[in-house]
Amino acid sequence: MKSALITGITGQDGSHLADLLLEKGYRVTGVVRRSSVDQSERIAHLLDRVEIQQGDLLDESSLVKAIERSQPDEIYNLGAMSFVPASWEQPVLTGEFTALGVTRLLNAVRFVNPRIRFYQASSSEMFGRVREVPQREATPFHPRSPYGVAKAYAHWITVNYRESYGLHASCGILFNHEGPRRGREFVSRKISDAVARIRLGMQQKLRLGNLDARRDWGFAGDYVRAMWLMLQQDTPGDYVVASGTQHTVREFSEIAFARVGLDWKDYVETDPALLRPAEVDSLLGDASLAKERLGWVPEVSFEGLVHMMVDADLGRLKDGGNRRQ
Ligand code: NAP
Ligand code: GDD
Repeated sequence: MKSALITGITGQDGSHLADLLLEKGYRVTGVVRRSSVDQSERIAHLLDRVEIQQGDLLDESSLVKAIERSQPDEIYNLGAMSFVPASWEQPVLTGEFTALGVTRLLNAVRFVNPRIRFYQASSSEMFGRVREVPQREATPFHPRSPYGVAKAYAHWITVNYRESYGLHASCGILFNHEGPRRGREFVSRKISDAVARIRLGMQQKLRLGNLDARRDWGFAGDYVRAMWLMLQQDTPGDYVVASGTQHTVREFSEIAFARVGLDWKDYVETDPALLRPAEVDSLLGDASLAKERLGWVPEVSFEGLVHMMVDADLGRLKDGGNRRQ
């Protein structure tokens, strides 16, 4: 039986990845940071099938202990401060979690067992003010947020430890991926939740920032498959994971409202306070390498994703908020 350790198991991707690895027969351990409230909403359905180790990306000794205790074959580093606007509010802490946290974890891998295979959650946010369209593995980075800068450091330290110490370490440069488990502050879920509330008469308006921003959106359930595939290769590497299609926030809203028979123009208001100090205007990924080497292709379309999210929020709210996503 293979064994995997996941940082960020309580997050969107961590919960989907744990589902996938359990399905594949893995023993799964999640690293969870201490909190005074329960953070396990997304993994409540699998808590009896995973082991939990207390640990924090700020504390290297806790990472060493988690690895020593769980003896994983594979580590997936999904833990990070992942909300871009928060990274301007807390740039130093973002650097500690999202950048230096990766060095701490890589050090822990080296000390405990350098044969462990390692996945780093890199991000299309590193491309920022894009230098070419579409973006691929060789496209230069120009991050536009403290989060993007931290992810660029994390990416290069992973590549560096692979080259310096021969670790089997891979980076997935994932474009935006969403689903019913997405945090409510991200634009996709903010829209789907608001559409459901407006449909049910629980909310009047939806305030958004930049409606012209373009993203390459996919479904999180598809994207965690690519993470796993990277660690099954004989040779580690870096891969863009994307849908290869692009839509605006306006289009996302239009399709989401239309799903419940409403016209987005009657409900969406723009709020300048939600604009960012520096914006990533447009992202579009080229995942040809992942297709060629990993055999990875996404299964859920953009429209399918928007419908899935709106339907899930409607179902949850009709259930009094209790339905599992
Ligand atoms: P998410 O839902 O925000 O989850 C982040 C996870 O990181 C949570 O489990 C959180 O734990 C954990 N975490 C935060 N700080 C930590 C610390 N100091 N020590 C240990 N764990 C910590 O993010 P996601 O959407 O699943 O994304 C997963 C990873 O992929 C992140 O690294 C993100 O930056 C990256 N990424 C995401 C996307 C995307 O579109 N979703 C695209 C590219 C890359 P708590 O529950 O305790 O807060
Ligand atoms: N959050 C949010 N809220 N974004 C809005 C809003 C709003 O009210 N209105 C417009 N937007 C625009 C943002 O300005 C941005 O251009 C776009 O919608 C997407 O914003 P988010 O959903 O917050 O995601 P993100 O692209 O900034 O970052 C996500 O994707 C990255 C990969 O490219 C996160 O998941 C990151 O962790 C991830 O690395």
